[in-house]
Amino acid sequence: MYDYKEPYKELIAEAINTLLSEAGISEKINTQQVIAENPPNPQMGDIGFPMFNFAKMLKKGPPQIAQITAEKLKGKGNFEAQGPYVNIKMDRSKTANEILNEVFKDNFGRPDTMAGKKVMIEFSSPNTNKPLHLGHLRNDVLGESISRIIKACGAQVRKVCIINDRGIHICKSMLAYKEYGQGKTPESEKVKSDRFVGDWYVTFSKNLKKETDELITSGIDKDKAEAQTESMKKAQEMLRKWEAGDSETVELWKQMNNWAIEGMKKTYERTGISFDIYNFESETYKLGKDEVLKGLEKGIFYKQEDGAVAVDLSDEKLDKKILLRSDGTSIYITQDFGTAIQRYNDWKFDKLIYVVGSEQQYHFKVLFIILEKLGYSWAKDLFHLSYGMVNLPEGKMKSREGTVVDADDLIDSLKDMALSEIREKGREEDVGDPNEVAEKIALGALHYFLLQPSPVKDMLFDPKESLSFTGDTGPYLQYMGARISSMLRKAGDSYGKEKENDFSLLITDPEWELIKIISSYPAVISEAAENLDPSKAAGFLYELSKSFSRFYHECPILNCEDKELSKARLELSRAVMLVLKDAFNLVCIPFLDVM
Ligand code: ARG
Repeated sequence: MYDYKEPYKELIAEAINTLLSEAGISEKINTQQVIAENPPNPQMGDIGFPMFNFAKMLKKGPPQIAQITAEKLKGKGNFEAQGPYVNIKMDRSKTANEILNEVFKDNFGRPDTMAGKKVMIEFSSPNTNKPLHLGHLRNDVLGESISRIIKACGAQVRKVCIINDRGIHICKSMLAYKEYGQGKTPESEKVKSDRFVGDWYVTFSKNLKKETDELITSGIDKDKAEAQTESMKKAQEMLRKWEAGDSETVELWKQMNNWAIEGMKKTYERTGISFDIYNFESETYKLGKDEVLKGLEKGIFYKQEDGAVAVDLSDEKLDKKILLRSDGTSIYITQDFGTAIQRYNDWKFDKLIYVVGSEQQYHFKVLFIILEKLGYSWAKDLFHLSYGMVNLPEGKMKSREGTVVDADDLIDSLKDMALSEIREKGREEDVGDPNEVAEKIALGALHYFLLQPSPVKDMLFDPKESLSFTGDTGPYLQYMGARISSMLRKAGDSYGKEKENDFSLLITDPEWELIKIISSYPAVISEAAENLDPSKAAGFLYELSKSFSRFYHECPILNCEDKELSKARLELSRAVMLVLKDAFNLVCIPFLDVM
């Protein structure tokens, strides 16, 4: 990976090694042990090398080491000792040329740190009884962005989504539809098809609550009331019928699932999320069940008195865990054994990442331990990327149920807000298709906001703040991109093209700072990949945009008197745009040519 600091690090390492051997010490250091920092202000130099790490081996204080190291480096560059640091003022002209020529190469921002790795990544993974909600939006953009980032680092990536399409939850929607919805379809009701299914789930839940409350009033124990309702009994009966393959039940199940999945796919398409493979719980739960029975035979699991199959995890300091119900039906974790095994058999991954909320930490801990107990050597390559909750500010945009907010509704309202902003600013004529632009601003706002905190953190999604055109937001970044794009259009294709680019003129502080930030892009991407953390890329985008903004204000570009300098600055802007566009794609922010 290209790093302009590398030759200077090498010089420092060489000098330290000379000092070591002069002192008769056999120890040697390598270039990786040399740390390079940004001095607090540009007057001090362009790179600062702290000497603290060499104090012990040289048996000298860092300031003294800085002195003698700078001495050794005389004639090899503009090195200077300052306190415990050796700073260097670089040849900015030379380095600017070097860096910017790298940036215009195709493989810039494509470090090969994950080359040869096969990484499977599971994300989104909805249940078919409800439309996608705000939590899924965070999950989706994390999964998609991480996929793009690790792919940029050379990994082979397979994006998978498991649809939990069987079980009691979908029977609940089916039951309500069967009782009250005969003949109705998403088309007849003019509702998006996943919402249509979700609405029947809501109907079921309301009835269930009413019945439960009635039973409680009549004196039945709170914990037991729900299980004794007619609704719950019917739902369970339906699940049994489904497992037995009853054709009418299976037909209805197919119909409802198709509606749900078809609707969700529209949301994925709208937000730019895609998968290489869909797994369906209905197709893997039997394999999971077989695995549990095999484990029982091998004595890894045991049968309880009531007939349920369980595993004792006290050695791992965890509770016992039920793996099959007493009536032989499978539970949530059962399918996960089957799904994981099928995935590995299909594609021998080096790593499988599950992007799933932090409330399922226990689930994945148990899953991984059990797969290991079952003897799957690849169990060690499974990783739960546990991300935090996302909430809305109190009182804003509650869903129909007052708990979670549907993904579609949220994006619609962001889009409406963006559209009125466009109208208020009188930009309708300029932007081309205001609807399309508003949708892209909405997605930029949403995705950037969701990726800013590190994944593990809980967060509050503030729609209004996310849409602000100033500050650390998606639209601010998009605005920066549009500004450069319009400047390049204005300059025209032929601007200054008759000569080779000479970037050596770019030596002022704002130019140099901007160039340095651009040059850090590959390292930022590989760090984001290593940590599975797109917030690193998001943070980089903000730094880059801020730095461009400073450059734009302090350095005249098209109006610059010196034509050569004007052209170099324009090309620097083009480099910024290249990197912006590339990084936008990695964090799922749409690029806009006008805004
Ligand atoms: N559908 C599940 C839910 O909504 C999440 C599935 C996570 N993935 C898995 N392999 N268990 O809670």
